[in-house]
Amino acid sequence: LNNGLARTPQMGSSVVPQNHTKYFWCFLTADALISTGLAKLGYTYVNIDDCWSDLGQLVPDSKTFPSGINHLADYVHSKGLKLGIYSDAGAFTCQVRPGSLFHESDDAERFASWGVDYLKYDNCFNLGIEPEKRYPPMRDALNATGRSIFYSICEWGVHDPALWAGKVGNSWRTTDDIKDSWASMTTIADLNDKWAAYAGPGGWNDPDMLEVGNGGMTYQEYRAHFSIWALMKAPLLIGCDVRNMTAETYEILSNEEVISVNQGLGGPLSGQRLAVILWNRCSKTGSITAKWSALGLESSISVSIRDLWKHEYVSQDSVGSFSAGVAAHACEMYIFTPLTETKSESWMTNVRF
Ligand code: GLA
Repeated sequence: LNNGLARTPQMGSSVVPQNHTKYFWCFLTADALISTGLAKLGYTYVNIDDCWSDLGQLVPDSKTFPSGINHLADYVHSKGLKLGIYSDAGAFTCQVRPGSLFHESDDAERFASWGVDYLKYDNCFNLGIEPEKRYPPMRDALNATGRSIFYSICEWGVHDPALWAGKVGNSWRTTDDIKDSWASMTTIADLNDKWAAYAGPGGWNDPDMLEVGNGGMTYQEYRAHFSIWALMKAPLLIGCDVRNMTAETYEILSNEEVISVNQGLGGPLSGQRLAVILWNRCSKTGSITAKWSALGLESSISVSIRDLWKHEYVSQDSVGSFSAGVAAHACEMYIFTPLTETKSESWMTNVRF
Protein backbone atom coordinates (compact mmCIF):
# COMPACT_ATOMS: atom_id res chain seq x y z
CA LEU A 1 0.00 0.00 0.00
CA ASN A 2 1.41 3.33 -1.03
CA ASN A 3 0.90 5.19 2.25
CA GLY A 4 4.56 5.89 2.95
CA LEU A 5 4.83 3.12 5.58
CA ALA A 6 6.40 -0.35 5.58
CA ARG A 7 9.44 0.57 3.54
CA THR A 8 10.90 -2.44 5.35
CA PRO A 9 9.04 -5.22 7.21
CA GLN A 10 7.57 -4.11 10.54
CA MET A 11 9.39 -4.97 13.77
CA GLY A 12 8.07 -4.96 17.30
CA SER A 13 6.48 -6.99 20.04
CA SER A 14 2.95 -8.32 20.18
CA VAL A 15 1.08 -8.34 23.47
CA VAL A 16 -1.88 -10.67 23.69
CA PRO A 17 -4.26 -9.49 26.41
CA GLN A 18 -6.17 -12.78 26.48
CA ASN A 19 -3.15 -14.25 28.26
CA HIS A 20 -2.18 -11.18 30.21
CA THR A 21 -5.16 -9.24 31.44
CA LYS A 22 -3.12 -6.78 33.42
CA TYR A 23 -3.03 -3.40 31.74
CA PHE A 24 0.51 -2.63 32.85
CA TRP A 25 1.80 -5.44 30.61
CA CYS A 26 1.91 -3.05 27.63
CA PHE A 27 3.72 -0.36 29.61
CA LEU A 28 6.26 -2.90 30.80
CA THR A 29 6.74 -4.28 27.30
CA ALA A 30 7.56 -0.77 26.10
CA ASP A 31 10.01 -0.41 28.99
CA ALA A 32 11.60 -3.78 28.23
CA LEU A 33 12.06 -2.99 24.52
CA ILE A 34 14.07 0.04 25.62
CA SER A 35 16.03 -1.49 28.50
CA THR A 36 17.05 -4.59 26.52
CA GLY A 37 18.20 -2.49 23.57
CA LEU A 38 15.73 -4.25 21.23
CA ALA A 39 14.08 -0.93 20.34
CA LYS A 40 17.40 0.40 19.06
CA LEU A 41 17.67 -2.65 16.81
CA GLY A 42 14.35 -1.72 15.20
CA TYR A 43 11.68 -3.38 17.34
CA THR A 44 9.55 -0.29 17.72
CA TYR A 45 5.90 -1.39 17.53
CA VAL A 46 4.15 -2.39 20.74
CA ASN A 47 1.10 -4.19 19.38
CA ILE A 48 -1.98 -5.05 21.39
CA ASP A 49 -3.81 -8.09 20.02
CA ASP A 50 -7.35 -9.36 20.61
CA CYS A 51 -9.31 -8.84 23.85
CA TRP A 52 -8.32 -5.29 24.60
CA SER A 53 -11.90 -4.17 24.01
CA ASP A 54 -14.96 -4.24 26.17
CA LEU A 55 -17.38 -7.05 25.24
CA GLY A 56 -20.25 -4.77 24.26
CA GLN A 57 -18.66 -1.78 22.56
CA LEU A 58 -15.35 -0.87 20.97
CA VAL A 59 -13.85 0.88 23.97
CA PRO A 60 -11.07 -0.46 26.13
CA ASP A 61 -12.04 -3.00 28.74
CA SER A 62 -11.98 -0.93 31.92
CA LYS A 63 -10.31 -3.70 33.89
CA THR A 64 -7.62 -4.33 31.26
CA PHE A 65 -6.92 -0.71 30.40
CA PRO A 66 -8.26 1.43 33.26
CA SER A 67 -6.45 4.52 32.05
CA GLY A 68 -7.51 4.15 28.40
CA ILE A 69 -5.63 3.56 25.19
CA ASN A 70 -4.69 7.21 24.65
CA HIS A 71 -2.77 7.23 27.92
CA LEU A 72 -0.94 4.09 26.82
CA ALA A 73 -0.24 5.62 23.39
CA ASP A 74 1.22 8.73 25.06
CA TYR A 75 3.47 6.56 27.20
CA VAL A 76 4.61 4.42 24.26
CA HIS A 77 5.28 7.54 22.18
CA SER A 78 7.21 9.14 25.05
CA LYS A 79 9.62 6.21 24.75
CA GLY A 80 10.03 6.77 21.02
CA LEU A 81 7.94 3.67 20.23
CA LYS A 82 4.69 3.14 18.34
CA LEU A 83 1.40 1.61 19.37
CA GLY A 84 -0.54 -1.05 17.46
CA ILE A 85 -4.13 -2.09 18.05
CA TYR A 86 -6.36 -4.86 16.76
CA SER A 87 -9.82 -5.14 15.26
CA ASP A 88 -11.69 -7.38 12.87
CA ALA A 89 -13.20 -7.10 9.38
CA GLY A 90 -16.29 -8.84 10.66
CA ALA A 91 -19.06 -8.54 13.20
CA PHE A 92 -16.80 -9.72 16.05
CA THR A 93 -13.14 -10.40 16.73
CA CYS A 94 -11.98 -13.98 17.07
CA GLN A 95 -12.48 -13.76 20.85
CA VAL A 96 -15.95 -12.29 20.29
CA ARG A 97 -15.28 -8.62 21.00
CA PRO A 98 -16.89 -6.01 18.71
CA GLY A 99 -15.65 -6.01 15.11
CA SER A 100 -15.35 -3.03 12.76
CA LEU A 101 -17.24 -4.25 9.68
CA PHE A 102 -19.64 -1.47 8.57
CA HIS A 103 -18.17 0.82 11.30
CA GLU A 104 -14.88 1.44 9.56
CA SER A 105 -14.93 5.26 9.62
CA ASP A 106 -16.01 5.58 13.26
CA ASP A 107 -13.50 3.04 14.43
CA ALA A 108 -10.62 4.38 12.36
CA GLU A 109 -11.29 7.86 13.69
CA ARG A 110 -11.37 6.52 17.23
CA PHE A 111 -8.05 4.71 16.76
CA ALA A 112 -6.50 7.83 15.24
CA SER A 113 -7.80 10.04 18.06
CA TRP A 114 -6.18 7.71 20.59
CA GLY A 115 -2.84 8.05 18.79
CA VAL A 116 -2.70 4.54 17.38
CA ASP A 117 0.02 3.89 14.76
CA TYR A 118 -0.82 0.38 13.54
CA LEU A 119 -3.93 -1.72 13.03
CA LYS A 120 -4.01 -5.51 12.77
CA TYR A 121 -7.32 -6.32 11.12
CA ASP A 122 -8.56 -9.90 11.58
CA ASN A 123 -11.01 -12.09 9.65
CA CYS A 124 -13.40 -13.76 12.13
CA PHE A 125 -17.22 -13.56 11.94
CA ASN A 126 -16.95 -12.14 8.43
CA LEU A 127 -20.56 -12.90 7.39
CA GLY A 128 -19.28 -14.74 4.32
CA ILE A 129 -18.40 -11.49 2.55
CA GLU A 130 -15.27 -11.71 0.40
CA PRO A 131 -12.13 -10.20 1.94
CA GLU A 132 -11.52 -8.19 -1.24
CA LYS A 133 -14.71 -6.30 -0.28
CA ARG A 134 -14.19 -6.11 3.49
CA TYR A 135 -10.57 -4.92 3.70
CA PRO A 136 -10.47 -1.85 1.41
CA PRO A 137 -13.07 0.17 3.41
CA MET A 138 -10.78 0.15 6.45
CA ARG A 139 -7.83 1.21 4.28
CA ASP A 140 -9.87 4.17 3.07
CA ALA A 141 -11.10 4.97 6.58
CA LEU A 142 -7.58 4.92 8.01
CA ASN A 143 -6.38 7.11 5.17
CA ALA A 144 -9.20 9.58 5.75
CA THR A 145 -8.13 10.12 9.38
CA GLY A 146 -5.00 11.91 8.17
CA ARG A 147 -2.92 9.93 10.68
CA SER A 148 -0.23 7.61 9.40
CA ILE A 149 -1.43 4.14 10.42
CA PHE A 150 0.24 0.90 9.36
CA TYR A 151 -2.44 -1.47 8.01
CA SER A 152 -1.82 -5.16 8.72
CA ILE A 153 -4.26 -7.49 6.99
CA CYS A 154 -4.88 -10.71 8.92
CA GLU A 155 -6.93 -12.75 6.47
CA TRP A 156 -4.98 -16.00 7.04
CA GLY A 157 -4.12 -16.44 3.36
CA VAL A 158 -7.65 -17.66 2.63
CA HIS A 159 -8.16 -15.77 -0.63
CA ASP A 160 -4.48 -15.61 -1.64
CA PRO A 161 -4.06 -12.04 -0.37
CA ALA A 162 -0.63 -11.64 -1.96
CA LEU A 163 -2.55 -11.39 -5.24
CA TRP A 164 -4.75 -8.45 -4.21
CA ALA A 165 -3.61 -6.97 -0.89
CA GLY A 166 -0.63 -5.07 -2.26
CA LYS A 167 -2.94 -2.15 -2.97
CA VAL A 168 -4.89 -2.58 0.26
CA GLY A 169 -2.49 -3.12 3.17
CA ASN A 170 1.10 -2.87 4.34
CA SER A 171 1.30 -6.59 5.09
CA TRP A 172 -0.96 -9.60 4.71
CA ARG A 173 -0.98 -12.87 6.54
CA THR A 174 -0.26 -15.70 4.10
CA THR A 175 -1.18 -18.54 6.44
CA ASP A 176 -3.25 -19.72 9.36
CA ASP A 177 -1.95 -19.03 12.89
CA ILE A 178 1.56 -20.23 13.71
CA LYS A 179 2.00 -22.57 16.65
CA ASP A 180 5.07 -22.91 18.80
CA SER A 181 6.30 -26.14 17.18
CA TRP A 182 8.82 -27.27 14.57
CA ALA A 183 6.02 -28.83 12.46
CA SER A 184 3.97 -25.63 12.39
CA MET A 185 6.94 -23.34 11.79
CA THR A 186 8.28 -25.37 8.84
CA THR A 187 4.82 -25.76 7.28
CA ILE A 188 4.20 -22.02 7.52
CA ALA A 189 7.62 -21.18 6.09
CA ASP A 190 6.88 -23.36 3.06
CA LEU A 191 3.40 -21.88 2.55
CA ASN A 192 4.74 -18.33 2.74
CA ASP A 193 7.70 -18.96 0.45
CA LYS A 194 5.67 -19.22 -2.73
CA TRP A 195 4.49 -15.62 -2.46
CA ALA A 196 8.01 -14.14 -2.31
CA ALA A 197 7.66 -12.29 -5.59
CA TYR A 198 4.72 -10.25 -4.26
CA ALA A 199 6.59 -8.71 -1.30
CA GLY A 200 8.36 -5.38 -1.48
CA PRO A 201 8.52 -1.90 0.03
CA GLY A 202 5.00 -0.89 1.07
CA GLY A 203 3.63 -4.44 1.43
CA TRP A 204 5.04 -7.63 2.92
CA ASN A 205 4.04 -11.28 3.21
CA ASP A 206 3.24 -12.08 6.84
CA PRO A 207 3.75 -15.71 7.92
CA ASP A 208 2.67 -14.68 11.46
CA MET A 209 4.67 -13.61 14.46
CA LEU A 210 7.82 -15.08 15.97
CA GLU A 211 7.52 -17.93 18.46
CA VAL A 212 11.18 -17.54 19.51
CA GLY A 213 11.40 -17.74 23.29
CA ASN A 214 8.03 -19.39 23.94
CA GLY A 215 9.51 -22.78 24.80
CA GLY A 216 8.12 -25.19 22.19
CA MET A 217 11.23 -25.43 20.00
CA THR A 218 14.94 -25.97 20.59
CA TYR A 219 17.56 -23.24 20.37
CA GLN A 220 18.59 -24.43 16.90
CA GLU A 221 14.98 -24.57 15.71
CA TYR A 222 14.31 -21.04 16.94
CA ARG A 223 17.50 -19.85 15.27
CA ALA A 224 16.29 -21.39 12.00
CA HIS A 225 12.84 -19.81 12.53
CA PHE A 226 14.36 -16.36 12.99
CA SER A 227 16.82 -16.74 10.11
CA ILE A 228 14.16 -17.90 7.67
CA TRP A 229 11.70 -15.17 8.72
CA ALA A 230 14.45 -12.59 8.26
CA LEU A 231 15.34 -13.93 4.82
CA MET A 232 11.69 -14.06 3.73
CA LYS A 233 11.35 -10.37 4.61
CA ALA A 234 8.65 -11.31 7.10
CA PRO A 235 7.53 -8.97 9.86
CA LEU A 236 9.72 -9.52 12.94
CA LEU A 237 7.09 -9.31 15.67
CA ILE A 238 8.26 -10.87 18.91
CA GLY A 239 5.65 -13.18 20.43
CA CYS A 240 7.36 -13.96 23.74
CA ASP A 241 7.51 -11.99 26.97
CA VAL A 242 10.32 -9.52 26.34
CA ARG A 243 10.53 -8.81 30.06
CA ASN A 244 11.71 -12.34 30.78
CA MET A 245 13.90 -13.55 27.94
CA THR A 246 16.64 -16.13 28.39
CA ALA A 247 20.11 -15.27 27.13
CA GLU A 248 19.57 -17.62 24.16
CA THR A 249 16.28 -15.98 23.21
CA TYR A 250 17.90 -12.57 23.40
CA GLU A 251 20.89 -13.71 21.35
CA ILE A 252 18.56 -14.85 18.56
CA LEU A 253 16.23 -11.84 18.52
CA SER A 254 19.07 -9.33 18.76
CA ASN A 255 21.29 -10.67 15.98
CA GLU A 256 21.96 -7.44 14.13
CA GLU A 257 23.47 -9.09 11.09
CA VAL A 258 20.38 -11.25 10.56
CA ILE A 259 18.09 -8.28 11.22
CA SER A 260 19.95 -6.27 8.61
CA VAL A 261 19.15 -8.90 5.96
CA ASN A 262 15.47 -8.43 6.85
CA GLN A 263 15.64 -4.65 7.00
CA GLY A 264 18.10 -4.11 4.17
CA LEU A 265 16.31 -1.58 2.05
CA GLY A 266 13.84 -2.99 -0.39
CA GLY A 267 15.29 -5.37 -2.91
CA PRO A 268 18.76 -6.68 -3.58
CA LEU A 269 21.50 -6.42 -1.00
CA SER A 270 23.99 -3.79 -2.03
CA GLY A 271 27.27 -4.71 -3.69
CA GLN A 272 25.83 -7.80 -5.39
CA ARG A 273 25.85 -9.66 -2.11
CA LEU A 274 23.68 -12.69 -1.52
CA ALA A 275 22.01 -13.85 1.68
CA VAL A 276 22.32 -17.64 1.78
CA ILE A 277 20.84 -20.08 4.26
CA LEU A 278 21.82 -23.73 4.58
CA TRP A 279 18.93 -25.29 6.48
CA ASN A 280 19.02 -28.92 7.59
CA ARG A 281 15.44 -30.05 7.98
CA CYS A 282 16.44 -33.67 8.59
CA SER A 283 16.81 -35.13 12.05
CA LYS A 284 20.52 -35.98 11.64
CA THR A 285 23.55 -33.74 11.24
CA GLY A 286 24.66 -33.51 7.64
CA SER A 287 26.86 -31.63 5.23
CA ILE A 288 25.12 -29.18 2.90
CA THR A 289 26.67 -27.73 -0.25
CA ALA A 290 25.65 -24.53 -1.98
CA LYS A 291 26.75 -24.59 -5.60
CA TRP A 292 27.33 -21.32 -7.40
CA SER A 293 25.08 -22.53 -10.22
CA ALA A 294 22.17 -22.78 -7.75
CA LEU A 295 22.86 -19.23 -6.61
CA GLY A 296 23.03 -17.75 -10.10
CA LEU A 297 26.78 -17.11 -9.81
CA GLU A 298 29.30 -17.88 -12.51
CA SER A 299 31.30 -20.93 -11.46
CA SER A 300 34.70 -19.22 -11.64
CA ILE A 301 33.77 -16.38 -9.30
CA SER A 302 35.57 -16.06 -5.98
CA VAL A 303 33.34 -15.31 -3.01
CA SER A 304 33.98 -14.19 0.55
CA ILE A 305 31.60 -15.70 3.06
CA ARG A 306 30.50 -14.20 6.35
CA ASP A 307 28.70 -16.37 8.89
CA LEU A 308 25.91 -14.28 10.45
CA TRP A 309 25.62 -16.46 13.56
CA LYS A 310 29.34 -16.84 14.23
CA HIS A 311 29.87 -13.16 13.33
CA GLU A 312 33.03 -13.93 11.39
CA TYR A 313 34.27 -14.59 7.88
CA VAL A 314 34.51 -18.33 7.29
CA SER A 315 36.04 -18.03 3.82
CA GLN A 316 37.72 -15.29 1.80
CA ASP A 317 37.99 -17.05 -1.53
CA SER A 318 35.51 -19.87 -2.14
CA VAL A 319 35.09 -20.83 -5.79
CA GLY A 320 32.36 -22.99 -7.31
CA SER A 321 30.68 -24.19 -4.13
CA PHE A 322 30.61 -23.90 -0.35
CA SER A 323 29.90 -26.72 2.10
CA ALA A 324 29.14 -26.73 5.80
CA GLY A 325 28.18 -29.31 8.40
CA VAL A 326 24.77 -28.36 9.77
CA ALA A 327 23.20 -29.89 12.89
CA ALA A 328 19.73 -31.43 12.81
CA HIS A 329 17.00 -28.78 12.37
CA ALA A 330 19.66 -26.05 12.44
CA CYS A 331 20.48 -23.50 9.82
CA GLU A 332 23.56 -21.53 9.01
CA MET A 333 23.15 -18.11 7.50
CA TYR A 334 25.70 -16.27 5.43
CA ILE A 335 26.36 -13.24 3.33
CA PHE A 336 28.19 -14.20 0.13
CA THR A 337 30.13 -11.33 -1.42
CA PRO A 338 31.37 -12.01 -4.96
CA LEU A 339 34.85 -10.56 -5.26
CA THR A 340 34.45 -9.80 -8.95
CA GLU A 341 31.53 -8.32 -10.86
CA THR A 342 28.58 -10.61 -11.54
CA LYS A 343 25.27 -10.07 -13.26
CA SER A 344 23.30 -11.81 -10.57
CA GLU A 345 21.28 -9.87 -8.02
CA SER A 346 18.98 -11.50 -5.56
CA TRP A 347 17.89 -11.03 -1.98
CA MET A 348 15.64 -14.08 -1.84
CA THR A 349 18.18 -16.81 -2.41
CA ASN A 350 16.99 -19.51 -0.11
CA VAL A 351 18.93 -22.70 -0.49
CA ARG A 352 17.44 -25.72 1.21
CA PHE A 353 18.31 -29.39 1.15
C1 GLA B 1 -6.78 -14.89 14.98
C2 GLA B 1 -5.49 -14.30 14.43
C3 GLA B 1 -4.41 -14.39 15.47
C4 GLA B 1 -4.83 -13.72 16.77
C5 GLA B 1 -6.16 -14.27 17.24
C6 GLA B 1 -6.68 -13.48 18.43
O1 GLA B 1 -6.66 -16.25 15.17
O2 GLA B 1 -5.12 -14.95 13.24
O3 GLA B 1 -3.21 -13.83 14.99
O4 GLA B 1 -4.94 -12.33 16.55
O5 GLA B 1 -7.13 -14.25 16.20
O6 GLA B 1 -7.94 -13.85 18.83
